[in-house]
Amino acid sequence: MRLAVKRHISFILVCLFFFNTSLLFAQRNVRFAAQTSSIERKIDSLLAKMTLAEKLGQLQQLDGEASGKYRPEHLELARNGLLGSTLNVRGAEQSNELQKIAVEQSRLKIPMLFAFDVIHGYRTMFPIPLGESASWDLASIEKSAHIAATEARSAGVHWTFAPMVDIARDPRWGRIAEGAGEDTFLGSQIAFARVRGFQGTDFSQSDRVMACAKHFAAYGAAEAGRDYNTTDMSERTLREIYFPPFKAAVDAGVGSFMTSFNSISGVPSTANPFLWKQILRDEWKSDALVVTDYTAVMELMKHGVALDEADAARLALNAGIDIEMVSRFVNKHGEQLVQNKKLSMATIDNAVREVLRTKFKLGLFEKPYADANRERAMLLNAEHRKFARQSANESFVLLKNERETLPIKKSIKEIAVVGFLAGDQRNMNGNWAGDGREQDAVTVFEGVKNKLGNSAKVKFASGCDAKCEDASGFDEAVKLAQNSDFTILTVGEDIDMSAEASSRTDIGLPGKQLELVKRIHQTGKSYAVVLMNGRPLTINWLAENSPAILETWFAGTEAGNAIADTLFGDANPSGKLPITFPRSVGQIPIYYNALPTGRPFEAENKYTSKYLDSPNTPLYPFGYGLSYTTFKVSNLQLSQSKISKTGELKVSVDVENTGKRAGAEVVQVYVRDFVASLSRPVKELKAFQRVSLKAGEKRKIELVLKAKDLGFYNTANQYVVEAGEFGLTVGTSSNDDGLKDTFTIVK
Ligand code: NOJ
Repeated sequence: MRLAVKRHISFILVCLFFFNTSLLFAQRNVRFAAQTSSIERKIDSLLAKMTLAEKLGQLQQLDGEASGKYRPEHLELARNGLLGSTLNVRGAEQSNELQKIAVEQSRLKIPMLFAFDVIHGYRTMFPIPLGESASWDLASIEKSAHIAATEARSAGVHWTFAPMVDIARDPRWGRIAEGAGEDTFLGSQIAFARVRGFQGTDFSQSDRVMACAKHFAAYGAAEAGRDYNTTDMSERTLREIYFPPFKAAVDAGVGSFMTSFNSISGVPSTANPFLWKQILRDEWKSDALVVTDYTAVMELMKHGVALDEADAARLALNAGIDIEMVSRFVNKHGEQLVQNKKLSMATIDNAVREVLRTKFKLGLFEKPYADANRERAMLLNAEHRKFARQSANESFVLLKNERETLPIKKSIKEIAVVGFLAGDQRNMNGNWAGDGREQDAVTVFEGVKNKLGNSAKVKFASGCDAKCEDASGFDEAVKLAQNSDFTILTVGEDIDMSAEASSRTDIGLPGKQLELVKRIHQTGKSYAVVLMNGRPLTINWLAENSPAILETWFAGTEAGNAIADTLFGDANPSGKLPITFPRSVGQIPIYYNALPTGRPFEAENKYTSKYLDSPNTPLYPFGYGLSYTTFKVSNLQLSQSKISKTGELKVSVDVENTGKRAGAEVVQVYVRDFVASLSRPVKELKAFQRVSLKAGEKRKIELVLKAKDLGFYNTANQYVVEAGEFGLTVGTSSNDDGLKDTFTIVK
């Protein structure tokens, strides 16, 4: 009996213990729940109400009309809660119409997300990204992205598919135009600036949009420079060269990522858990929304990794993709995949969570509509145009200027503007021109006329069209040059020759353009070449013979006015190449931060690394660009000669404008790790500063090198900073070894 009582008491005690513990757990859960943000609770509550079809609908993105209009089908899908987002639908009125259906007529009233490629401006166009990157002006780059975001958001766009942060070392690849060029350090700084410009620190604001770091990853390394082609490289190279700009975007708080079309060492990005799960989520701890590129899920079948549509959907979602752009396999086969246990509900819920979280963060549940009045006030307003002109001027790179051919004197009486590109509005905005309208763009011909007013006769002859297969117009152009005091000769690529699906094997001037240049040159009259293009061009003849060359890329809405500002000296060119210009396609890939070889070039020794038919050096190196004034960089000083692995070093120089005009110079600091456990590049950009100086002005500037930025990924793919001696050069181009010193990282 006693025993029975004892047992009874013990039983009660055990029960009490469990009751207490579960109470404790419950309390903790309540506290935890209270801590989770209200957004997460709202997501939970929505998720609990959603059918599987509605969930899959959130993972679908469909394309609107090129005009910005939604398609009739979108209305029906939105009404049934089966469409989460669109791309290309834009304009306050049009986007509001579709939004209204989603918000007012769908069962759960989940707002739609409107995405668009706002790459270098929405309506007011800025220089193409490669051109803008030539400014090395991070504040300015951030500002243009902010203006683009302001305009886009006012027009109902919430999400831009930018910035493209793919490092690209192959100018045959047309998409080199959309990025920041070849360098990981510069590219990372620009990636950060662009994300901040688009998003600010809170992209729910009416002047911000969510950014998208694309295309993860290594898209810029497409073999043979052929778009969409495969890439194959070590994980080390991925981590060291191609990933950092994406990481910089994460550091800036980027809201989304896009997959790339290519496969990486056999695994397509859209089905690549290493990229999405290991790198983005586990290592970088980012909760960025992941969207595929256009029909990239469908393309998994063509890549030969998916058996059929359902298999493609399974691979993509299980790899960590959230939204499928345009193809509809996730939508079509999601239910069946869940039933067959090939896809878990948790995977779908996670993806839906990402989408809903984004919509909450964008403030779409509270403010789903665009304001048409604000749109009218924002698009292409005077302030935006003014800044577009300034940013265009900063993007120009003066490649050559013999005997001060430029700037042109404003007292000139007769001036010829020659070349199709100089008179064609469509070509000013460049590719991926958002909602930019060609009728808004100022051509070079217009810009020169605006500049000179009635004080000079300005005449135009195209010579040929952009493809320049027909030379029948050359005589007229040459005659015009002969009868003028100066010729502005605009040559280069048509906008359709760069950006997506625009790879070239010959990156010289198209068609017979060079013949036209030679004919103008033969007149013996003064002229300057204005280049328009979306990639480095092989322009050896020009570099050797033409007196002046101004690289203007595609400069945007204010292209013509800005080009005239620079040609006539109201602006002083200050751009620096963000990409190497090769002498020939045969030199590609050619980039400044190459690894050394065991047999570095020696002129007298045949058995060293060289070509039989070409120098190793590029035509124009990374970081290069002239000015109408001259600068002297001197007095290099390091704050110390030894730093610890966590320490930093201050590098100071004096920069002096030794010429007669105000101008800006970009001081560049390169390092070399002399001996390491792995071969390290012959030089690597590690700091830079743009300095504006009045004529005669001299200023001391200080740049900081952090030891932690001087490491690399070892063979185990771990980031290490190794002790040892480093060389340092400071100059105004990657081939300028003017100022040198060494320092040591100590154990
Ligand atoms: C395909 C391109 O690769 C990508 O960059 C772009 O954002 C999408 N199309 C949407 O237009």
